[in-house]
Amino acid sequence: MNSWPIQLNLYYYDFLGDSILRKSVIAGNWKMHMTCAEAKSYLQEFIPLIKNIKDDRKVVIAPPFTAISTFSNHSDFDYLDISSQNIHWEDEGAFTAEISPKMLLEHGVSYAIVGHSEPRKYFSESDEQINKRAVFAQSSGLTPIVCVGETLEQRERGEADRVITRQVEQGLENTNPSNLIVAYEPIWAIGTGRTCEAKDANKICSLIRKLIGFDDVIIQYGGSVKPNNIDEIMSMSDIDGVLVGGASLDPNSFARIANYQ
Ligand code: PGA
Repeated sequence: MNSWPIQLNLYYYDFLGDSILRKSVIAGNWKMHMTCAEAKSYLQEFIPLIKNIKDDRKVVIAPPFTAISTFSNHSDFDYLDISSQNIHWEDEGAFTAEISPKMLLEHGVSYAIVGHSEPRKYFSESDEQINKRAVFAQSSGLTPIVCVGETLEQRERGEADRVITRQVEQGLENTNPSNLIVAYEPIWAIGTGRTCEAKDANKICSLIRKLIGFDDVIIQYGGSVKPNNIDEIMSMSDIDGVLVGGASLDPNSFARIANYQ
């Protein structure tokens, strides 16, 4: 009752418990959805639903770049953190279509999604590029959300652990695990309505934690997270949050997810 948690970025201390606790991070990835006008009406509906959210979690949304200022200019902006959907490894230069940390920081962005399976698949993003993005995001003061995950074929061939190990070892080289989120997103569960069994997802998240060698690293699950499966997913010991695509586009669904039990 007398506990007095101090909010840190990804952790909080409970003085009575005398320990650092991992904060869960509930992140919505809007992908290529939402104009500024749509984002504005979303926030009007969404923010009242998360105003009383518990102290043990953070809510983050990754809107398209054009809607980022709709968030940072919103009067109730404090209830949410903003993520970008990409980040480059230089502050400026001849890199058409890329976005740099200093451009994002100017708009109050604090996270950057890196290595999502869509740019890996459609734009041949490599582990080496993902690593450069993650390292530069950290050195610029942003927290990268680095996505890893196997395809259905890799899973069926029994290669999931090997693929994840490679993505973690190469993608996270020289990153600081205390300012990092890793999202385990099995590709076959993204946008398909087919969620990975919570226990199977937990096993891979535990493998990722061991590979990183830092107990307090924040590890999310992503792939068809919905209001009806969030409570089970969040009950798993090694899952510290979720990265939500489709269900984050509806303010009521995403608020239910953020207010998981
Ligand atoms: P989904 O997407 O929730 O629509 O499956 C997850 C993601 O791509 O991060």
